[in-house]
Amino acid sequence: MIFGIGVDVLKQERIVRTYQRFGEHFVARLLMPAERAQLARTQRPERFLAMRFAAKEAVVKAMGTGFAHGVWIRDVGIVQNKWGRPDVIYSARGERMRRKLGVGAGHVTLTDEAGLIVAVAVLMKAPRRKRKAAPPRKRKPVRK
Ligand SMILES: CC(C)(COP(=O)(O)OP(=O)(O)OC[C@H]1O[C@@H](n2cnc3c(N)ncnc32)[C@H](O)[C@@H]1OP(=O)(O)O)[C@@H](O)C(=O)NCCC(=O)NCCS
Repeated sequence: MIFGIGVDVLKQERIVRTYQRFGEHFVARLLMPAERAQLARTQRPERFLAMRFAAKEAVVKAMGTGFAHGVWIRDVGIVQNKWGRPDVIYSARGERMRRKLGVGAGHVTLTDEAGLIVAVAVLMKAPRRKRKAAPPRKRKPVRK
């Protein structure tokens, strides 16, 4: 079952300007360590940053928190798996919030065209934890 959906559209130019102005400070503010590791390997860092920004916004909208209520920009992240598919990751704090809200698996899709970035996130509800079976009750001895 779906927990929430989120979308974001962003002009890449906005991120390009911020990156030119703040450089490494912007990167340090925006990205989680795993995302920074991927940035170091990418051919197009500005597009990478814009896509991460949009994807994070889509995820926090799907969570329903925005960048507030215990979730900040580095509490959620997106890393590509080895086939290139974006996977959602959480910081320790983001992970606590994810569990508290009952969010399960996350899905993100990204695209860009004509200078615009679009990100869509779908978060599933976490599967209910199975309760431990209660120990068998002791029966009172029946008096005859
Ligand atoms: C959700 C959030 C990320 C949207 O940010 P935004 O880019 O200003 O706005 P967008 O146009 O992309 O989206 C706005 C819409 O998101 C939706 N939205 C707002 N809060 C939401 C929430 N908590 N959960 C889900 N959706 C939300 C609403 O539909 C809103 O439309 P409205 O303003 O007409 O009500 C915003 O709540 C937020 O937390 N902004 C902080 C951004 C920030 O600090 N960025 C700097 C980080 S370095």
